[in-house]
Order: sequence, then structure tokens, then C-alpha cells
Amino acid sequence: MKLLICFGTRPEAIKMAPVCLELTKQNIPFKLCVTAQHREMLDQVLDFFDLIPDYDLNVMQPNQNLNTLSSRILLEMDTILEKEAFKMVLVHGDTTTSSLVALAAFHRHIKVAHVEAGLRTYNKQSPFPEELNRQLTGRISEYHFAPTKQAKTNLLQEGVNTHAVVVTGNTVIDALNITLEKIKHGYNNSFIEKLKRTINFNNNVILVTGHRRESFGEGFENVCNALLELANTKDIEIVYPVHLNPHVQKTVFNRLSGVSNIHLIAPLDYPSFVWLMSQSNLIISDSGGIQEEAPSLNIPVLVTRATTERFEGVKAQCSFLVGTETKKIIATAKQIMGKERTSKLSNPYGNGDAAVKIVDFIKNNLID
Ligand code: UD1
Ligand code: UDP
Repeated sequence: MKLLICFGTRPEAIKMAPVCLELTKQNIPFKLCVTAQHREMLDQVLDFFDLIPDYDLNVMQPNQNLNTLSSRILLEMDTILEKEAFKMVLVHGDTTTSSLVALAAFHRHIKVAHVEAGLRTYNKQSPFPEELNRQLTGRISEYHFAPTKQAKTNLLQEGVNTHAVVVTGNTVIDALNITLEKIKHGYNNSFIEKLKRTINFNNNVILVTGHRRESFGEGFENVCNALLELANTKDIEIVYPVHLNPHVQKTVFNRLSGVSNIHLIAPLDYPSFVWLMSQSNLIISDSGGIQEEAPSLNIPVLVTRATTERFEGVKAQCSFLVGTETKKIIATAKQIMGKERTSKLSNPYGNGDAAVKIVDFIKNNLID
């Protein structure tokens, strides 16, 4: 079976890296194609996990819009699918890359398998456009690697055959464990050294990220106002690696520059970010991946979104859905930082063996 793995953004790369590493370990041949929907943020991940793409579609354009991006992916993917007779394409998650690569494969009668399948809010506006992307990819896919039982239940309720779904845990926990292990064995870099020099880790450290399209404008303004107020609290350091999306950059730098204990920095490479998470007291974020990683480090996450498809963490009190209302973010942050954290529970998103489960399924069921 000729297998193609395809992804395009930072989180997809982090979450597919363990699958690529496991396929290599088990001597299962595959080709890697990156759409490069992200560029710098993708390349950082490829470097860290030593992944060398066979194809790089290099589609990213500054401030790209969804239709231009989609059409470029569809067109460029087709040239690759025409060149080689792939039998299966493995895609990940809910980005424009995932759904458009899946569609390109479908148009050429190539089977699609979906990693991180079955996450749902059933609200097409939140997250936008990811909820529709993952539903589309789910409809197209023949095989579904669901990270949790709930994700499998969602798929079964939509009529997917139970034999086509495998519950694996989320591969981000594999990526996190690989990275923590490297850090434990002395991995270091200049970004980590700089963080150590510039941030007072004796204070309470709040780590912030944000990039959701549905929060552009008012939502981001509200989160920034909350951060300004929290920065006035005693012994607080706020560290904010700012996403490269120009809409995010504009609001965040306009509103938060020049405050001495708010550190606005460039997006960090994955190991530096993992190290920084492990040194933080609280995370404020709208990220999907961070909601999944933080329980392994026992760091609470305030989720600055109206909805989450990662409800397992909310139920386990690992994350707290606060939306983008300024007062609620401030009050919940203060409440959580004032409380002693109880000891670490198991991570509802997995234990680090998702890639092995995915590769075993491919080996035992899909390779002729
Ligand atoms: C994308 C995904 C989102 C995912 C997020 C992870 C879609 C529609 N959105 O959102 O689901 O959660 O990535 O971060 O698929 N840029 C750079 N360099 C980079 C990356 C981005 O300059 O390495 C800038 C470019 O101006 C680019 C813009 O950010 O045009 C937006 O990138 P895009 O991938 O369209 O959207 P994200 O907001 O990054
Ligand atoms: N991340 C990173 N550097 C950063 C911020 C985040 O490497 O500066 C990692 C984070 O650990 C997680 C992933 O990127 O694994 C999340 O990506 P993002 O929030 O962009 O996308 P989402 O998960 O929301 O799709």
C-alpha cells in the first residue's frame, strides 16, 4: 500500500510527528507532503522532530483568506496525487489543509484516514471554520482514529461503522512525552536560556496564547483587557508568544506593548514552549492542543472560547471554559491561582501510545 501523510500547520505537524516516527521505526514506507499552510511555525516543528518532507507545496501567503488558501491546496495537491498512485492519505484534525487534502484525495478515489477524528461542538460558527472542516473530513474518511471514547460516540451517532473507528488517545501526548523526555535528558536551546534570563520564575507565571478566528476583534480586545488587569496583581509575570496571524498580532501588540511584566514574544519552537508550559502556574488560551497537553503537566487552562470540543478536560477540572468576557477571565484566573492544586490525575486525552495504536491498525488492516 502506498501511503501519503499530509499536514500543513504547526499543531498538525506536532500531532503527526509521532505517527511519522512510529512508521519509520516499524519500517513501513510512506511519503510526507506538507502544504505549508503555515511556514515558520511549521518549519520549527519539522526541524525538532527531524522530519524531511518529500513534497512541500509552500502555499502560505501573508494574511491568506480561506477561499484562496483552499483553492491553492486543492490545485497543488492534485499535482502530487497525479504524480504518484497513493492508496491512502492520512490527514489530521480540522484545518483547511485537512479538509481540502481529504477532498482532493476523494476526487481521485484515494482512501482517507483521519487522525483526531470525531471532535464536535455541532456549532458551525464555533470554532470557525474548524467545526465544519472536521465534519467534512469525517464524511470523506474511510477510517477514523478517535482520540477519546466521546469522539467515537460522536462518530457512531453520525452513522459511521464501529469497525471503521479506533480509539487511540491523542498523538499530542506522544509528542509531549517525547519532548519532556528529551528535556529531562538535558535538551536545551537559546530560547529556553533567554526565557530563564528575562522572566522571573519566582513570580506566578501566566502563559497566554490565542488565535481563533471567531474571537478576532472584540473577543481579543476583551482578553487583552483581562491581561492588563491581571498584570496589575502582585508578583505576576505574563508570557505571551503571539501567533503570527496578522489579525492577532495587530490587536495584541497595540493593546499590550510596553507593560513591564507582560512579555510579548515570537511563537516558540515546540520544546521551548513545552518547557515554558512546565514552568507556568496558569495557562490562558483558546488552543486545542494546549487543552490536551496541560493536564499531563497539571497546569490549569482557562479556555477563552464560547465552546469546546474537548469537554473531557472540563469535566475533569483540568480546563475551565471562560469565554472572552473580561470580568469572568479575571475572576476565574484569580480564583484558580489562589487555590492549591490537587495532585495530578491521569490525562483524559491519552497516555502517549496513540501513534503505536494508529500504526498497528494500519499495519494489520490496511497494508496488503
Ligand atoms: C490555522 C488553522 C487553525 C489552527 C491554527 C493553528 C485554518 C483555517 N486555520 O489558523 O485551525 O488551529 O492554524 O495555529 O486552517 N502566518 C505566518 N507564518 C506562519 C503561520 C501563519 O506568517 O508560520 C500568518 C500568515 O500571514 C497567514 C496567517 O498567519 O496568512 C494565517 O494563517 P492560517 O493558517 O490561514 O490561519 P491560522 O490563524 O494560523
Ligand atoms: N505551541 C508551540 N509554540 C507556541 C505555542 C504553541 O509549539 O508558541 C504548541 C502547543 O504546545 C500545541 C500546539 O502548538 O502543541 C497548539 O497549536 P495552536 O494553538 O496554534 O493550534 P490548535 O491546537 O488550537 O489547533
